[in-house]
Amino acid sequence: MFYEAAVFAFFDSDGDGVGDFAGLEAKLDYLSWLGADCLWLLPFYESPMRDGGYDVADFRSVHEPYGTIEDVARLVSEAHRRGIRVIADLPINHTSDRHRWFVEARRPGSPTRDRYVWADDPSKWGEARVIFSDTHDSNWSWDPVAGAYYWHRFFDHQPDLNYDHPDVAAEMIDVARFWLDMGLDGLRLDAAPYLYERDGTDCENLPETHAWLKKLRAVVDEEYEDRALVCEANQRPEDVVAYFGDGDECHMAFHFPLMPRLFMALKRGDASAVAEIIEATPAVPEGAQWGVFLRNHDELTLEMVSEEERAYMYEQYAPEPAMRKNLGIRRRLAPLLDGDRRRIELMHAVLLSLPGSPFLYYGDEIGMGDAHTLDDRDGVRAPMQWDSSPGAGFSSADPSHYHLPVVAAPGYGPEAVNVEAQQADGGSLLNWVREALALRRARPFFGAGGFELVPTGHPALLAYIRSDGASKVAVLANFSDERVEAEVRLDGVRWRPALASGCRLEGRRGEAGPYGYGWFEPPT
Ligand code: NOJ
Repeated sequence: MFYEAAVFAFFDSDGDGVGDFAGLEAKLDYLSWLGADCLWLLPFYESPMRDGGYDVADFRSVHEPYGTIEDVARLVSEAHRRGIRVIADLPINHTSDRHRWFVEARRPGSPTRDRYVWADDPSKWGEARVIFSDTHDSNWSWDPVAGAYYWHRFFDHQPDLNYDHPDVAAEMIDVARFWLDMGLDGLRLDAAPYLYERDGTDCENLPETHAWLKKLRAVVDEEYEDRALVCEANQRPEDVVAYFGDGDECHMAFHFPLMPRLFMALKRGDASAVAEIIEATPAVPEGAQWGVFLRNHDELTLEMVSEEERAYMYEQYAPEPAMRKNLGIRRRLAPLLDGDRRRIELMHAVLLSLPGSPFLYYGDEIGMGDAHTLDDRDGVRAPMQWDSSPGAGFSSADPSHYHLPVVAAPGYGPEAVNVEAQQADGGSLLNWVREALALRRARPFFGAGGFELVPTGHPALLAYIRSDGASKVAVLANFSDERVEAEVRLDGVRWRPALASGCRLEGRRGEAGPYGYGWFEPPT
């Protein structure tokens, strides 16, 4: 299980209201108790923080309020001591406009101008979509100092690097080395599809981009052991699998198209969208793996669904316009599911049993809420709620000085949702997630083992078998709020539940109450 955390939001050790590396270190025992195998850290490099740190001013230094490079090294070795790995998010496609390279490139007559992408005509590469559609209507912005337009796939303060320039292609590999040398176990490659631009294309998923990623992989394979490259490519399944190459590109890639379909299925009370996307997902090369997730630090992206499905998702999950951001929904898991424990469990029971490695977003294990009135995606990045105090036990600073406010939504504040209370309560969501993770860990075939959909004849009831030959688990999940009985085409053995709620499987007869789910095993 990968646990995604933002340094600024996890725990503040020095009382300045901003989370830091020493704070993360202090909470490693919690991650270990929960069952995290790997910690994924949002970008922590020096940054003006206009895009949560994805706007990097210096790739080789740590954002000052978070601590020092030595603090990173200590966190990594303390995590390793507990058997937890650490991967760092590396925004490879762009820098902040404060990066030394951009400052130099802008200067009139700069010999290094071409480390970024410039044009005189902003209609160039018009086929490339604008990703941050709420804030921009073009991928070009005018730079009066340079007297030219520069290319940016994200915010206008994030100029895209020009990978055709040899300095750039080499430097970003050296930056990867810098952090791998420190002992980090891998990198999440942010915005991987956009590295190169070419005429007559939409400038995404280009062969040149894949070639660079293969070079990076070769370095990782030749110079390091046991490290992983995780690809962030919000693309169709057939385009995402290309990022595994022939087992010579990224080790892992997020399964973006699956995620919104899980939410869609739950509202419709019809699991077919989930079954269809799994069937449409091509096989991955040996040694490659999907990263599956429900939520993350961004808006719940709706780029990989049809217009009709997007309209449905907005209507159902983002009734207030302020909940929408770009092509997505800026809400956390628990509020999206109306705080309904049955639905939260069902979604995890499916996520944890699908092929791939699950990625959990900090705070979702306790059902944290959000604040969609905050700027950009800040509403889903609130301080972690450790205890019931007004400051949520995140920092000794006055909560009014916190980097982002503590969640205040009714029913979701720290008095109602916090780690301390849930750890003490055997029936809490937190303890349920922990138990489900432990059960999953004891069945390694959940990750890379066999997967087979099983027809149930009922649209609400999803059924599949996970197996590794000797062992198997039958998973049943009722995506509707109605009681369902169906014939499940399985061997008629006497199944035993390993994890179940409101769900039975007897021989071939499956029965599930509203949002009931179960992991069933044949008797040993
Ligand atoms: C993807 C990241 O997940 C997102 O948070 C960021 O804003 C963009 N890349 C741009 O770096």
